[in-house]
Amino acid sequence: MSLISTKEMLIKAQEEGYAVPAFNIHNLETIQVVLDAARDLKSPVILAATPSTVKYADENYLLAIIEKASEINNIPLTFHLDHHENVEDIKRIIKLGCKSVMIDASKYEFRKNVEIVKDIVDYAHKYGATVEAELGKLGGVEDDLKVDEKDSFLTDPNEAVEFVKATGVDSLAVAIGTAHGLYKSEPKLDFDRLEKIRSMVDIPLVLHGASGVPYDAVQNAIEKGICKVNIATELKIPFSNAIKEYFNENPNASDPRQYLVPAKKAMYDVVVEKIKMCKSENKVYQCSYNL
Ligand code: 13P
Repeated sequence: MSLISTKEMLIKAQEEGYAVPAFNIHNLETIQVVLDAARDLKSPVILAATPSTVKYADENYLLAIIEKASEINNIPLTFHLDHHENVEDIKRIIKLGCKSVMIDASKYEFRKNVEIVKDIVDYAHKYGATVEAELGKLGGVEDDLKVDEKDSFLTDPNEAVEFVKATGVDSLAVAIGTAHGLYKSEPKLDFDRLEKIRSMVDIPLVLHGASGVPYDAVQNAIEKGICKVNIATELKIPFSNAIKEYFNENPNASDPRQYLVPAKKAMYDVVVEKIKMCKSENKVYQCSYNL
């Protein structure tokens, strides 16, 4: 079993009306948690790494761990570069075997975004890798990526059509009212906009910033055409809270094999809940790439 692109898994999800959850991982433990839940619930999953995760954990370790994990669990896995902006880094990591990348050039104006994305698409496709790009701009904080609310804007459906045609991109992250990180108040998603984009664009659509979005709203977005849902913040918080709690109760503890156990359990519970929210449970074995 080796690493796979998102092509077939997202098309399958799109056809069948569920979403593949993309969980942001940071290290061996968080990879193990996502894998345990994916195996227990027989769900396809995407393991996503932001540039700061790649910098922290090293792409060679990440690729090796995930590839081995796929083999051990007999589960097809996607290691996905999330919100990468550096074209040379993306190309280098594709060459190392990564089959799924997001080039985020959404900070640039439309033409420049198209130009950068097209360059990566042309390169990635030669290596059998799929490419996600963002049109519109999500606000909020995702690791080193910080976008002020005033600089965020929603995806224009007409531009989406032109963008997809001009870039040949495989999936599109749409801005429909979500933001990265924690919300100050409940987010209001623009479902009409999503429906319009879905009716005009036929590639898989991606929802970023799903932490803190009510379960029903995410499921509504899935019904209206989202087939990849990104979750990061809601995993980090229970993981770190469980460690804090462990140290409160055991101030002299020092063994990571002990204090990381409750952290992994707390994160596992959220991953399970999110897989159920995405309705991807039991979907892994429907995919021909798996067996
Ligand atoms: P959250 O941190 O809001 O869950 O967003 C995750 C995300 O969109 C990663 O790309």
